Amino acid sequence: MNENKKTYILGVESSCDDTSAAVVGDGGLLLSNVIASQQVHEEYGGVVPELASRAHQQNIVPVVDAAIRRAGISRGDISAIAFTRGPGLIGSLLVGTSFAKGLSLALRAPIVDVNHLHGHVLAHFIKEKESDEVPPFPYLCLLISGGNSQIILVRSYKDMEVLGRTIDDAAGEAFDKCAKVMGLPYPGGPHIDRLAAEGDPKAFHFARPHIRGLDYSFSGLKTSFLYTLRDAVRANPDFIEERRADLAASLQYTIIDILLDKLKRAIDITGVKALAIGGGVAANSGVRDAVEKLCNSRGVRAFIPQRKFTTDNAAMVAVAGYFKYLDGDFCPYDATPYARVNI
Ligand code: KG4
Repeated sequence: MNENKKTYILGVESSCDDTSAAVVGDGGLLLSNVIASQQVHEEYGGVVPELASRAHQQNIVPVVDAAIRRAGISRGDISAIAFTRGPGLIGSLLVGTSFAKGLSLALRAPIVDVNHLHGHVLAHFIKEKESDEVPPFPYLCLLISGGNSQIILVRSYKDMEVLGRTIDDAAGEAFDKCAKVMGLPYPGGPHIDRLAAEGDPKAFHFARPHIRGLDYSFSGLKTSFLYTLRDAVRANPDFIEERRADLAASLQYTIIDILLDKLKRAIDITGVKALAIGGGVAANSGVRDAVEKLCNSRGVRAFIPQRKFTTDNAAMVAVAGYFKYLDGDFCPYDATPYARVNI
């Protein structure tokens, strides 16, 4: 590494249904972040893996090209290429991994593999301006997405310990599956969020899990929600239509209650002074407010990311890759992507 040369890390993210590329400079300063979301899955009510990898193939070159252009650099300036190696859909990951390797050979720039979950946790280190504040180590990160619900103790950029995780569904799945029962489009989380703003969060009571330790469970809530609707619709076929907002508000309230119950315990056990949230569900208005309030009441600093950095994006991959690059932690060319991996 040339000490005087400026660092530019190109990040490539293709783990699910968003093709994204970003460039970060020294200190994790964000220079560009381009995302092409795939609409093709909407009519299927969920992500279709084969269609996702095909769309990545079509999107990846223009998206990377745009990221480099918007960053105001040229390809030859790139110090390293960071890519998401997993977890995710294997076909989608293969597109990003192969692209990163090819570009790396062409540019003679090393590759850095990034764990997608580390990316979400380290999204708080993306700086849009030099003065942006970042969480102090150690901090707790509540990582809540379509595939994960975890409480992570983050000791450093690379030392992370999962203190609790879901034993069944993720929080995002609970939002999406319950929304589907209500006839809302996929993904249902944002629709529930919008409807909840006009409903009564105490209108309905849904089951809460009794799980020991810091683990989560959301499958009981899903069943309880389903049975409540099934019974009510038998008595009144217009029930869902008439009570949409109250159902959404009560569902959201219950999910937040479950999330915060374990989070409070994690704060007490670890004694951390900072708490961050990440992952798609961290975009939820109710979650953001509740976490902020919890932190204020406990004298803990809350790090609530901008919504654009909660869902899948390459800026978080580039910033996670930046710290590995500084450590000289590069990836060999025979590295293959992994569909499943822990933090
Ligand atoms: O991190 P993410 O983009 O990717 C996956 O894990 O696949 O998270 C997607 C999840 C979906 O379940 C989606 O419904 C949820 O994040 N989500 C939300 C909101 N925005 C996205 N859930 C609740 N409220 C939101 N505003």
